[in-house]
Amino acid sequence: MANPTGLQDTFRLNNGVEMPWLGLGVFRVDDNSVAAESVKTAIKAGYRLIDTAAVYQNEEGVGQGIREALDENGLSRNDIFVTSKVWNSDQGYDTTLAAYQASLNRLGLDYLDLYLVHWPVKGKYKETWKALEQLYKDGKVRSIGVSNFQIHHLEDLAVDAEVAPVINQVERHPRLTQAPLKEYCDQHEIRLEAWAPLMVGGLFDNETITSIAGKYDKTPAQVILRWHIQGGVAAIPKSTKAHRIIENGDVFDFELSAEDMDKINALNQDHRTGADPDNFNF
Ligand SMILES: NC(=O)c1ccc[n+]([C@@H]2O[C@H](COP(=O)([O-])OP(=O)(O)OC[C@H]3O[C@@H](n4cnc5c(N)ncnc54)[C@H](OP(=O)(O)O)[C@@H]3O)[C@@H](O)[C@H]2O)c1
Repeated sequence: MANPTGLQDTFRLNNGVEMPWLGLGVFRVDDNSVAAESVKTAIKAGYRLIDTAAVYQNEEGVGQGIREALDENGLSRNDIFVTSKVWNSDQGYDTTLAAYQASLNRLGLDYLDLYLVHWPVKGKYKETWKALEQLYKDGKVRSIGVSNFQIHHLEDLAVDAEVAPVINQVERHPRLTQAPLKEYCDQHEIRLEAWAPLMVGGLFDNETITSIAGKYDKTPAQVILRWHIQGGVAAIPKSTKAHRIIENGDVFDFELSAEDMDKINALNQDHRTGADPDNFNF
């Protein structure tokens, strides 16, 4: 069980790099100025992890928000952990190398802390991984990982991989606890990171969650985020609203009992809100 005590607490990835437990997600934030404001609010509130992707089309705004926040808060680039992802249409070796540079250019950064293969595109993800390995070996990125990989994708990748992924970022929330995948990742020192950690808002009326929230005097969102990180899973909730960004970061002053952790685990229905990594067409 993990027990981080603040937004700036980190865990160690399998390559020795430190990564914060909780970060800001910016999916569906198409307006660059809104993305910049959300990032600035988060960093001011103490967040140190920002998760974007080329396909979100907000890397310019995210980069601008990071630069302004560093200035305003007296921070340096290495205080912030920045993640982006190579989109499916850019997968392949040369195209991935070019996509990485294009993301850096849009962000206005000279390196990323984590670059992910966004989805396991059949027939392509291994070449894409080779490009990530090259970027890593060349010192252009601090760590590399995958997203939406099932156990069989990870096993297939491991056949030829020279560098193991540090992270597998997947849909995860109390209705999709991903227990077998988590067990596999734990065994292979790949950290699970939850996208849609709040099930995109779909669980705030759930009776189990609301009753646990009442017991700890916390909100449903805070209980769910605490459940992720206490269970050893990093999480990147998205909000563009300052009060929610602050609320979501305020999950380090309480601890769920083992019984309450189990009650939340028992909500699993293997229910996805997003695409199935074994059957997607984008
Ligand atoms: N790797 C992938 O394939 C993948 C896929 C999807 C997402 N992601 C990443 O994961 C991040 C999070 O996932 P997500 O954005 O899909 O879903 P999410 O974080 O589970 O939920 C976000 C939704 O919940 C609302 N919300 C956030 N905090 C709240 C609070 N405290 N109280 C009430 N409502 C709240 C937000 O609305 P407001 O903004 O209006 O507050 C938004 O509608 C993304 O932003 C992205 O960075 C990755």
